Amino acid sequence: MKLAARVSRIAPSPTLAMAATAKAMAAQGLDVIDFSAGEPDFDTPDPVKAAAEAAIREGFTKYTPSSGIDELRGAIADKLQAELGLRYEKSQILVSCGAKHSLYNLAEALLEVGDEIIIPIPYWVSYLDQALLNDATPILLPTREEDGYAVRAGELERLVTPKTKAIIVNSPCNPTGATYDRSTLEHIAAVAVRQNLIVISDEIYEKVLYDGAAHLSIASLGPEIAARTVIINGVSKAYAMTGWRIGYAAGPKELITAMANIQSQSTSNPCSIAQKAAVAALRLGEPFTVKMVEEFSRRRDMIVEGLNKIPGVTCRMPKGAFYAFPNIKGLLGKRGPSGMLKTPSELANFLLNEAQIAVVPGEPFGSHEHLRLSYATSMTNITRGLERLQQAFAKLT
Ligand SMILES: Cc1ncc(COP(=O)(O)O)c(C=O)c1O
Repeated sequence: MKLAARVSRIAPSPTLAMAATAKAMAAQGLDVIDFSAGEPDFDTPDPVKAAAEAAIREGFTKYTPSSGIDELRGAIADKLQAELGLRYEKSQILVSCGAKHSLYNLAEALLEVGDEIIIPIPYWVSYLDQALLNDATPILLPTREEDGYAVRAGELERLVTPKTKAIIVNSPCNPTGATYDRSTLEHIAAVAVRQNLIVISDEIYEKVLYDGAAHLSIASLGPEIAARTVIINGVSKAYAMTGWRIGYAAGPKELITAMANIQSQSTSNPCSIAQKAAVAALRLGEPFTVKMVEEFSRRRDMIVEGLNKIPGVTCRMPKGAFYAFPNIKGLLGKRGPSGMLKTPSELANFLLNEAQIAVVPGEPFGSHEHLRLSYATSMTNITRGLERLQQAFAKLT
């Protein structure tokens, strides 16, 4: 069969693949400790479930307007106004089947052959593949661990060409847990305005911030940058609703309308019941997320401290999201039972096979010296996992 050429440019999501392998091993009775999952291990809050149950009972089970129900788009507009001080009309908001789908609609509406999109490394896996699926060329912007993965002045603008359409901003970042401070965001905003770029600001981890930090959206830096920014967000991470599949985009009307047209010809509306649940989630306010983040914060301290005690491993303290991104450069080149471990992927396979620990290797995030460990798992798993990691690494020669 001759498939479309675009299919050969991409791979299945490696994070989902590792999570599936870990689940399959657990189903076979193996005691797998899973640090691969990118989802809160908390249950969806009861009022959200109740809203979904009510929606089912009341027969809210039919097609909705393709771009999302008015009630939800209104709740999103109110949130953006209250938290970022930005007024979006409902026509500037598109609700989709998860933030990943919002990003995909955006890639389809914006990118075509010859276009370039700047993606800072390390990056969330799907930015790259979605650009490739839409015939664009990802231009990777290196950042440095010792800078806290900030974008250094001058380095971004050097990559801009007449073909550059957009830049990705993901703060807090998956996989590094880094956040961009005001000066980094101002720098990116200045380049975007000067060079006429669209900023894709993925803010899905905005509520998962530590040490009292407040979220700062690049769109809130002024009207010029707001007019060229598409905010991507959703309820998956903040309200433990990964399976409900509700995300949204807010941005320039022309672009959102184009994305809405694409959605109307592909998925139609996001699930009617999940939309009602998302309205309830947005009305919950802070208490649920604050409690969840307090727990993530304790786990963060524990896992980062534990990782830093392992010879050959160093780990920065993440400022947001729920991932530790340890540098394992010191372990590469050592020998395991099946030979020398030269790459993060080989190290991750060694951990899975020899210690039943599932982690995601750095390569799909653009790193050749890191592993990603999600600490959205219990303290018990973290304690046991750290012990196992230490024992497994100690066996390397
Ligand atoms: C950075 C980032 N953006 C977007 C998403 C997609 O989230 P959703 O579940 O809403 O599709 C994820 C999920 O892992 C993510 O890590």
